[in-house]
Amino acid sequence: MSTLSTPHIKPDGAPIAESILLPGDPLRAKFIAETYFENPVCFNEVRNMLGFTGTYRGKQVSVMGTGMGIPSISLYSYELIHTFGVKQLIRVGSCGGMQEGIDLYDVVIGQAASTDSNYLSQFGAPGTYAPIGSYRLLERAVAHAREAEQTVHVGNVLSSDIFYNADESALARWTRMGILGVEMESAGLYANAAAAGVDALGIFTVSDDLVGGRHTTPEERQTAFTAMIEIALATVTE
Ligand code: ADE
Repeated sequence: MSTLSTPHIKPDGAPIAESILLPGDPLRAKFIAETYFENPVCFNEVRNMLGFTGTYRGKQVSVMGTGMGIPSISLYSYELIHTFGVKQLIRVGSCGGMQEGIDLYDVVIGQAASTDSNYLSQFGAPGTYAPIGSYRLLERAVAHAREAEQTVHVGNVLSSDIFYNADESALARWTRMGILGVEMESAGLYANAAAAGVDALGIFTVSDDLVGGRHTTPEERQTAFTAMIEIALATVTE
């Protein structure tokens, strides 16, 4: 039995798979484990950041909440990668749509993740590092989305540190650069994965239309959420 533990993840001998899904909300992690996994076992309860391991279509897979924002996903993904040997990480979350033609409930896949965060400066690249998703996972995720006949947009997302921005024109300037949607985590995840040589990807459902000003309710999001989770699970267990 493994006795590995970190300040934020204490599995007490429970396994963590090499492949993990990462929703922001820990109760989403519980829902995913209970809905999709065979024999789910809880491996983390520290700060209620619930994590579970089970099997999906015969393959071992884990799911764990990350909290919101780059600092939170970055510390959890760092510990998962460096202490627990996780090699494939897929963030599953929501994003605000930022282009005409991106509809509520569409799926967006983050080929790259631009950011207004300073998190990446620690890596000391002598220029502007572009955080990108794993092409291996991206290719598979797109194939599974098409197979499921799910509308999917692939491109650059914005991982912003700022939900309530005093600069009201900031998002419009990102829209002009072709950003598909805004969320708050993937750039940190992609940079951590790149620095460690492992695979990461962000898959999102569009929960708000920031161009047209439309929003969804949590109940309405469930169908699109299901499509996204099934794409992510098929991608990591292929
Ligand atoms: N996730 C979903 N909608 C968002 C928004 N408007 N800003 C940041 N993250 C989001």
